[in-house]
Formats: sequence, structure tokens, C-alpha cells
Amino acid sequence: MALLHKFKISGGQVTYKSRFLGSDCYQANNEHSRIVVSEFGTVAMPDPCKNFFQRFLSRFEMPSESRPEPSDNDNVSFVTYKGDYYVSTETNFMHRIDPETLEAKEKVDWSKFIAVNGATAHPHNDPDGTTYNMGNSYTAKGATYNIIRVPPTKNSPEDTLEGATVLCSIPSVDKTKPSYYHSFAMSENYVVFIEQPIKMDLLKIVTGKMRGKGISDGVYWDPKRDTFFHLINKQTGKLSSVHYLTKALSTFHQINAFEQDGMLVMDMCASDDGQAINNYMVQNLRQSGEALDEVYNTMSRVFPRRFVLPLNVDHNTPIGKNLNTRPDSTATAIRISKEKVFCSYEELHDEELHKYGGLEFPQINYAKYNTHPYRYFYGCGFRHLVGDTLIKMDLKDKSMKVWEQPGLYPSEPIFVPSPDSTEEDDGVILSVVITPNKDKSTFLLVLDAKSFKELARADVPVNIPYGFHGTFNNTA
Ligand SMILES: [Fe+2]
Repeated sequence: MALLHKFKISGGQVTYKSRFLGSDCYQANNEHSRIVVSEFGTVAMPDPCKNFFQRFLSRFEMPSESRPEPSDNDNVSFVTYKGDYYVSTETNFMHRIDPETLEAKEKVDWSKFIAVNGATAHPHNDPDGTTYNMGNSYTAKGATYNIIRVPPTKNSPEDTLEGATVLCSIPSVDKTKPSYYHSFAMSENYVVFIEQPIKMDLLKIVTGKMRGKGISDGVYWDPKRDTFFHLINKQTGKLSSVHYLTKALSTFHQINAFEQDGMLVMDMCASDDGQAINNYMVQNLRQSGEALDEVYNTMSRVFPRRFVLPLNVDHNTPIGKNLNTRPDSTATAIRISKEKVFCSYEELHDEELHKYGGLEFPQINYAKYNTHPYRYFYGCGFRHLVGDTLIKMDLKDKSMKVWEQPGLYPSEPIFVPSPDSTEEDDGVILSVVITPNKDKSTFLLVLDAKSFKELARADVPVNIPYGFHGTFNNTA
């Protein structure tokens, strides 16, 4: 169940507050003292108190009734729309949150505003506050991927997603098996949707409950398929007629994307293997000893990669030639037919990162450098199922700085710029560090973003569960 938490740093003091999200899902599970709402990997099984006959019937409901009710357990991230805070997962439900008290003010349903069945927990913001996101729409004609735009300001205090529009609608090649995506990339003028071969079998998903299976049962990796990069112009909503593709990859988090000298540079954390979702099955998390070593050793590793997409491709563009003209870049982009450009990536790291198991949860100095050329990103090294190091990567020479302490597991690093900073890495890194080795010894870690040296830690005498994403807000 989503647990919202907050560190407040003020007047030399750090205070901590947490609160379970008062979602319908939380209420229902609480009332029954067990999980009664199906989640991504969990199917809510029939009530064990029912007699056999009732149980038999409840497994054979009609498909329309057995369709899994989307969860409102928004446990992935804090996001902002029109300056308000929301918590989000990937279903159609978000909750608007009072950032002071962490109370849920209201439940907001994307599908009441536009034709989408949900949206990612990783929207992007333009400097003026306009927000972009993506969601799927399922109609009789098949699944489409819809690019969403939410205006920057509210017309009334009660406003939530009013004025949201679908900027572009991209039909899924396979109507009943669209790709899963966790995020997307955005440069100054383009949204880039990455259609990876992690597929969602919609029929399997809607019949899952009848078969006693969770949503994850309908998600599969198809490495024989390519990955497509779809470029959508943010001004016109037009989809590029050039099809950029690369071999099968899986990606959860984008690092940054920017346009320079007619190229769109797109950096992401990616893997050649799309089985990552399976790593987090509860049976893996419950392993210990050699069985757990086996889980670690067979896990797919995720590394930072750069793709370079040439933007000016027309009938004069030569076929079979590398179009990436960026100096020192080993990424390639080769026009292979009239409308197809095949891309290969450049590694945004050197050998040293292999020692740390790859990098995930990338963060940058977003406010100043998102959609712009940049030099630094931060992330977690992943030798374990959760991050066990904090890493700063310098793109100038691919050198790294690392923070680690045995037995401590840091969360996604959040970059906070110093007031009036002029240098990209002038600021601090915030991370919530947990440990399974000692009771109630969680802390908020503060690193100097430049040197990666520890500046401070604020101990929190409670146990905090491992979390995904966070955000920083300067209210001073
Ligand atoms: Fe995420």
C-alpha cells in the first residue's frame, strides 16, 4: 500500500512525516484485513470464508465483471500538474495531495478528462509548467498510445486536469498487444515514445482474474521484435514519418534528451533483456543464501546508453551511411530504406560501472538542464535487487564518483541546486537510506553533488520501506 513520506528541512532541523494514502484500495484491504484489490503482480483471490460453491461461482464471473478494477494505490511517484502535487501509479487514478499534511484531497480519474486508460508516473515539464505524459486508449479499433498535454495553470482552485488534450494518437501495430512503457523522452521540440518489445496481451490481462492470475501474467518480452522510437512534434502534434528503430531493448527510465546540430540526442537506462519485471516477483524477494545469489546473478543489468537520431532525413539522405556527425560519439544512425533509420547506441559509461551492477533511477539537474546539453547524471548502482550505491557520472570523460557503505541501500538520488547556482553540479544530492541489518536506522543522506562527499545525515527512528521516486520542493 502506498505510504507517502516527507522530510522537511527548515531552520537547521529535519522533520519526518508519513501517512498511508487513503485510497479506496487501502480502505477495502483494511476493512477485510487482507488484499482484496488486484494489483500488478497480485490477484485478489476469493474470500477464504466463502463455501466451496460460492468460491466456484466467484471464479467464473462473466468477463466484463471479472475485468480487473484499476487500482488507485498510487505508490510510484509524486508528480505535479498545474503546480499541484499528485501521487501516481500507472492506472487512470491519481490522488491530489496536500503537501503539508500528506492527506489525499481528491481522487482524480484521467479517463474523465481525455480518452486514456491511465498515464505514466513520469510526466515531463516544460519551463512554463506545461506537462506532457502518455497513456493508452483501448477501443474496438484496437489500442492506441496517446500523447497528453496538460496546461500549466488552473482556472479555478478546484481545477485538476481540466484542459488536458491528446496531442497525438499512435496506433499500436499489434491491436490487442500494445507495448508496455514506463516513461518517455522529451526534448525541446519533441516527445519521443519508445515502443519496446515488452508486450501486454490485453486478452490475457482482462481474463486474468478468472484464471487466478495477476496483470503481470499478461506481460511478456519478445526479443525477436525491434524497438521503435516515435518522434512527435510538441507544437504541431505531428508524428514523424521517419521510423527510427534499434534492436530489442527494455527501458524504464530516461535520463535526458536534447537537440543539437540537427540531431536529437536521447539518453536512457536500458537493458538487452526485458525480464526485469520478473526479478521483483515476491518469490525472488523471499529468497536467501544461494538461491538469492542465483537471483542476483541472473538478473538483467541496466546501463546508461545514448542514441542519436538525425532529424533532417529526406529523399536526398544517403542510404547505408552513418548519419551521426557528432564528434566523439560512437552511436550510429543508418538510413536503411526510404523511411527507416536503424540506430545503435553509445555506452554512457566505461568498464568501471560493471563493478556496480549497472545504473538505474537516473536523475539530473532537471530544472536547468532537462532538454539541454548536460554533463552530469546521478543514479543508483544495482548489485542487488535494490540500489546499493549512489553514483555520479561525468559525461565528459565517463568518470564516476561513488558513495557506498556495506549493508546500506540508498534510494533514487534527488539533485537539489544551491540557491543562485551557476554550475550544473553545484548543489546537493538527497537520498533515503535503509538497512535490513538494524531496526529503525533509516536516514536521509545529504551529499555534496560536486565532490560526492557526505555532508550530513538525519536519522529517522522508524522503519521506512523501500520506495521508488521522490521530488524536492523549495517552499522557502
Ligand atoms: Fe519509475
